Amino acid sequence: MSAVPQPLSDHDSVRAVQWQRDRLRLLDQRQLPQAEAWVECRDAGEVAQAIGDLVVRGAPAIGIAAAWGVVLAAQRGDAIAQAVQALRAARPTAVNLMAALERMQACVAAGADASALAHEAQALQDEDLAANRAMGAMGAALIAPGSGVLTHCNTGSLATAGFGTALGVIRAGYAAGVIARVYADETRPWLQGARLTMWELARDGIPATLIADSAAAYLLHSGQVQWAVVGADRIAANGDTANKIGTYQLAIAARHHGVKFMVVAPSTTVDLATPTGASIEIELRGPDELLGYAGQRTTVAGTRAWNPVFDVTPHDLIDVLVTERGVIARPNGAALHAVFARPARR
Ligand code: MRU
Repeated sequence: MSAVPQPLSDHDSVRAVQWQRDRLRLLDQRQLPQAEAWVECRDAGEVAQAIGDLVVRGAPAIGIAAAWGVVLAAQRGDAIAQAVQALRAARPTAVNLMAALERMQACVAAGADASALAHEAQALQDEDLAANRAMGAMGAALIAPGSGVLTHCNTGSLATAGFGTALGVIRAGYAAGVIARVYADETRPWLQGARLTMWELARDGIPATLIADSAAAYLLHSGQVQWAVVGADRIAANGDTANKIGTYQLAIAARHHGVKFMVVAPSTTVDLATPTGASIEIELRGPDELLGYAGQRTTVAGTRAWNPVFDVTPHDLIDVLVTERGVIARPNGAALHAVFARPARR
């Protein structure tokens, strides 16, 4: 199985999940942008730990990493069921993790050995990259020349097999010359926007302006932005969409100001088994992310903190859902059923 990344197109130089025959290399996203350090995982437990610790993050990327975790378990002769259980438990909200593991388990059930499982994991990774490129083109085609866009969290090559979902639309739109201004929310508290999206865009030569999350409504009011473009961690059967905390308030502000709201996600993020957003488990992380910054306490001792790291945007606030299967305007249960209730073509 090759560890050499595929040829990189313009404005797309990062590959954060790299398979190397008997180990998984992950670009350590906890350390960006200060350091470009890599973590090597040699068994499924180490992959599960890396997912839980946010060494690797972003819905598609954690699914891909988990698939390689199953390959490591098979190579080492470890119990697959136990490996799958640990990987599945690493994070609760992004359904791509569960979808990838189910796909690998189906191969195991069909008698696949470690080498066949490696081919499946590579196929999963390659399909994600292809989906992102397709979504990038479709999403960019919706954006009128001269537009400004605002994105939230990090949905780029760091969060996927490459190119990105919402950030893929921004890459494609910038390359096509239709996007005139890119704004990124800093994405408190883990700062995926400030630390990761700004790093990725700077590295790939796409000029962008960082804003505080709390500046978003004022920016939308200014008329500088025509599209808010975000990713997703789980899209319920009725179109309700879980994504990074802060997405919901951005959707409300976008609707209020007449700014279009686009969700970009591969079909592996759509979960028809989850009827509405109310059934999506929202990950709560520890309070430390809120109580301090860079090791320095920023609030008084004894402060309690509530730290949900995702929220749910109701489907009626979403103008467009872009997946690799096409563009769905005003996504709802009927529209999603029509597109996703049939098996994927591979
Ligand atoms: O907690 P994270 O950083 O894994 O959350 C990531 C997001 O919410 C992304 O928007 C989502 O996973 C889509 S990534 C293509």
